[in-house]
Amino acid sequence: MSASGAKTNLHEFVVQENEQVAEGLWRMRCNTALAAELAPGQFVQVSVPADASHILRIPLSFARADARSGELDIVYAVVGEGTRRLSAMAVGQASTMVGPCGNGWWLPQDQGRALLVAGGVGLPPIFACASMLAQTGVGFDVVVGAQTASRHCVGYVDELRSMGIHEGCDCARKVVLTTDDGTLGMRGFVTQAMENLLAEHTYAQVYACGPNPMMAGVAKLSMSKDIACEVSLERMMGCGFGACSCCNVALVDGTQALCCTDGPVFDARRVQWQTR
Ligand SMILES: Cc1cc2nc3c(=O)[nH]c(=O)nc-3n(C[C@H](O)[C@H](O)[C@H](O)COP(=O)(O)OP(=O)(O)OC[C@H]3O[C@@H](n4cnc5c(N)ncnc54)[C@H](O)[C@@H]3O)c2cc1C
Ligand code: FES
Repeated sequence: MSASGAKTNLHEFVVQENEQVAEGLWRMRCNTALAAELAPGQFVQVSVPADASHILRIPLSFARADARSGELDIVYAVVGEGTRRLSAMAVGQASTMVGPCGNGWWLPQDQGRALLVAGGVGLPPIFACASMLAQTGVGFDVVVGAQTASRHCVGYVDELRSMGIHEGCDCARKVVLTTDDGTLGMRGFVTQAMENLLAEHTYAQVYACGPNPMMAGVAKLSMSKDIACEVSLERMMGCGFGACSCCNVALVDGTQALCCTDGPVFDARRVQWQTR
């Protein structure tokens, strides 16, 4: 049973669209009954057809899951053989995915403003989190970082600007873009943009996903201001359902959690962050 209450199960999916959306990044929109069972921040384990030598499924977050239409959007970086073959899947092709996997984002207990921080391919679960907050009327600002302009998913960023904002609502939002090389938005890391926002605004909750050093920085900044912070962690995964113990997350109390079943979303204060 997953944290969303739905039983983790095998589902068929059919590719509707599979296209490049930024340098090195692809978006697959597929149709699956699983879309109705996913909570923001959970993940799926995708099986890519074609090569029997690749038996492991690919763990992937999702950006959007529409319960009514059954549409599920995943955004993925092509980094190795599995994701390369995923990018080659054609419209109409079918395969399977396991889900819902893991624990998603928790809604803030304090309904004060939230700050969302995404780095690189950490954008999908942050986009799903933004949708969740917009639907529940929680105000939020967003920082989205990438190495360079061509690696920003412009379509999703535009949606983040307008999501849940309608005439007459008091929900003005800051969406701050950063690039490491200064080719779009602020030059620098997302943590620098986050520091600027923290100096000007009060936040009740921070949500973050991105490379581990980025999340360690976001966690440190949040804790220094005593702001609750949730992070969505990535670990190498084998089984994806708690059987192989290869996705350990070290905790401050000296114990280990499993990223696949205890996470991937963790309270940042529980995580033993590596400082090196
Ligand atoms: C819970 C979870 C959610 C994820 N969500 C997304 C997502 O939304 N979009 C996305 O692009 N990627 C996501 N990932 C990472 C994705 O699973 C890996 O990039 C993918 O498995 C690589 O497969 P491959 O066969 O193409 O590459 P491989 O040949 O297996 O590896 C290529 C490179 O990617 C690294 N890598 C492989 N698996 C992982 C992993 N699990 N975590 C981090 N690095 C890895 C390897 O160390 C290697 O450097 C997620 C991972 C987890 C655990
Ligand atoms: S991936 Fe097997 S226990 Fe987490």
